[in-house]
This record gives sequence, structure tokens and C-alpha cells, in this order.
Amino acid sequence: MKYDFDTVIERRGTDCIKWGVYPEDVIPLWVADMDFRSAAPIIEALRERVDHGVFGYTRPAEALRLALRERLKKLYSWGIKDEQIVFLPGIVTGLNIGIQAYAFPGDGVLVQPPVYFHFFRDPAHHGRTICAAPLVRRGDTYEIDFDRFESAITDRTRIFILCNPHNPVGRAFTEEELGKMAEICLRHRLIICSDEIHCDLLYPEHRHVPIATLSPEVADRTVTLMAPSKTYNIAGLECGYAIIQNEGLRRAWQKTSFGIVPWVNIMGHVAALAALREGREWLEQVMDYLRGNRDFLAGYVREKMPNIKMCRMEATYLAWLDCKEAGLPENPADFFVKEARVGLSNGPDFGQGGEGFVRLNFACARKTLTEALDRMAAAMSKL
Ligand SMILES: Cc1ncc(COP(=O)(O)O)c(C=O)c1O
Repeated sequence: MKYDFDTVIERRGTDCIKWGVYPEDVIPLWVADMDFRSAAPIIEALRERVDHGVFGYTRPAEALRLALRERLKKLYSWGIKDEQIVFLPGIVTGLNIGIQAYAFPGDGVLVQPPVYFHFFRDPAHHGRTICAAPLVRRGDTYEIDFDRFESAITDRTRIFILCNPHNPVGRAFTEEELGKMAEICLRHRLIICSDEIHCDLLYPEHRHVPIATLSPEVADRTVTLMAPSKTYNIAGLECGYAIIQNEGLRRAWQKTSFGIVPWVNIMGHVAALAALREGREWLEQVMDYLRGNRDFLAGYVREKMPNIKMCRMEATYLAWLDCKEAGLPENPADFFVKEARVGLSNGPDFGQGGEGFVRLNFACARKTLTEALDRMAAAMSKL
């Protein structure tokens, strides 16, 4: 079927975070979900389950593990076993389990800022030390400085939290880059927690490589976090998974989670299964639409806001905009919300290297995006 992403769907009044935080006259382009309806087979599967009307304790269907295994095999030639999949109510939950299972208070956690804020705030919250290896800006993209990466590791660093694809800089790391990072991590005996939640949102010419697929040695030290939530716009249904091939790491994970981390809710399972089995058609179409929005945004910024620099995007629907030379009188996110009534994510929230940036979520109808950009350009023209 042909999906319609152009029609603007009213999300206010649905308790959604994105549209609920700001006053009514602000267009919110911040938190990472999409304004689109999810895939028809997902909606239909949920409807059928609701009609059944009994919502007692539930475990993930065998079919869900099978669907995930088949997908990993097909996309990445990655063969895993059923027992290596651990279901989770969210990827941030997974990050926090990893931090506590594999590092003691005072131990170090390696991260690559600017990055999704849970990567550095959550370890710090639990008393772990942040070892920062910032990504390096080169032209319109970011690269890894491998010397800096290695020198950020101390003798107390235990975990590397990788964000691939990377939020917010939009990189899909190459096999070569992943190989070099993995080699360094293995040499220092780090555990790799690889957050691959954005792995289905890659633009043409780019290919996702799960770091665990590089070699059995890397797989043995890696926890891979994946979910259908970003891919199919079902984040509110809270279903994700950790793939942990090493039995010892899996045991430590389960010990840390015991009695604290709840099972995934029924609707999350149902939606995940429908997504993995029947979501492809929707995903292909949404990626086409997102690619159109990305290119439209890049063209708009180039022509009408030339002092803002948009980073090249290999993946995600989150654009990383450098406003340092835009001559704004204050922090860019504050400026745009006050003067343009557009709500963007604040660059400094992504840690080191985020100053002067905003992150713009373009997973919305083109009309909404155009209106937001017109408002931003108008606000800047008054400077
Ligand atoms: C890299 C990354 N990890 C995790 C999450 C959130 O995952 P969850 O809602 O499953 O906790 C996000 C959401 O933006 C993200 O960008």
C-alpha cells in the first residue's frame, strides 16, 4: 500500500512528549520520534490483540525471537541463538544495566561526545567516571581520532558505549572505523555496549555494520542494543533487545536486572513482531520521505540560512546544525524557541562539542518542516 506522510496528524492532546512540552504556538522538532502513523500491519496487530481483551502476564512469543534472528541473518549474516536475546523495555534501560553490570563505581566509561546525553549523564549518575574521546569535526562531517580514542582509556576504564549510527552527528561508522575501535577495546579488555537503535535509518550508499559481527572475539565482548522503536515509530510501546553472545556477560546482565527491570509489555511484543515480519514496505517508504526531507532541509539551509552549517547525514532523521557563525545573540536553541517559535534540541545537552549547535528532528510532514524553517529564516533576517 502507499503510505501518506504529508498529512499533518494532530498529536496534541495525546500526552505525547514532543508536542506537549512547549506552548501551542511552538513547532516542536526535538525529541527523536516521528510525527507519522506507524505501519498498517502494526496497527492491525495491536487492534487484534486489544480485541482479545485479556491482558495478563505475557512472555515474548517464540515467533519474535525467530523473526529477530532471521532479520539479523538476512541483513548482516549474523547468526545468533534464541537464548542470546534479552528483551528490554527500552534502550536507555539497557545502557543503565550495562553500566552497572560491567563497571564498579569509580570505574571509567568511554564515550564519544557530542553524543546522546544518557551516554554520559547516566554513568556519572551511578558514580562511574567519564572517559571522553570527542569526535573530530572535519569539513561537514565527523571523524574518529584513534590516538585520542585510545588515550582516553585509563586502567580503570571498563566499558565503551558506542553510538552507531551516531546521534547527533549522523554518522554510520564504516567497517574499517569499527574494526579500529574494536581492536583498541579488545586490547584494553573493555566491554563494548553498542547502541544501534538507529540502525535501520540509513540513507542510500551507507550500510549498517553491527560491531559484534566483526569477529567472534569482538562478539564475545559486546552487548548490542537494538529496537524497533525508532525504525517503526513505536517508541511509546517500549520494546527493545540486547544481544549478548557471551554467557558470562549475559549472566551479569541478568543478575543486575533481577527484580528491577520489568518484562516488556504485551503491546510492545505484538508491535515488534508485526514490525519485524511485515514492516518493510512502510520502512522503505518512510526512508524515501525522510531522504526527501533531509535534502530539502540541506538545500533550505544552504540557500536561506547560509551562516548555519548542516552536517552531512548518513543516517537518522536528526540533523546537527552548527550555528556558531550565525551571529545569534544567545544560545541557538533559546533563540529559535523565543524568536521563531520552533523547539529544537539544545546542542550543549549532547556534551563536549555541542556548544553553538542545535539538533533538528525532520521526521514530520514536509509542510510542518517548511513552516518551521520559514520561521527560523524570518527570525534570523531580523538580526
Ligand atoms: C542513541 C539512542 N539510544 C537510545 C534512545 C532511547 O531509547 P529508548 O526510548 O528505547 O530508551 C535514543 C532516543 O533518542 C537514542 O537516540
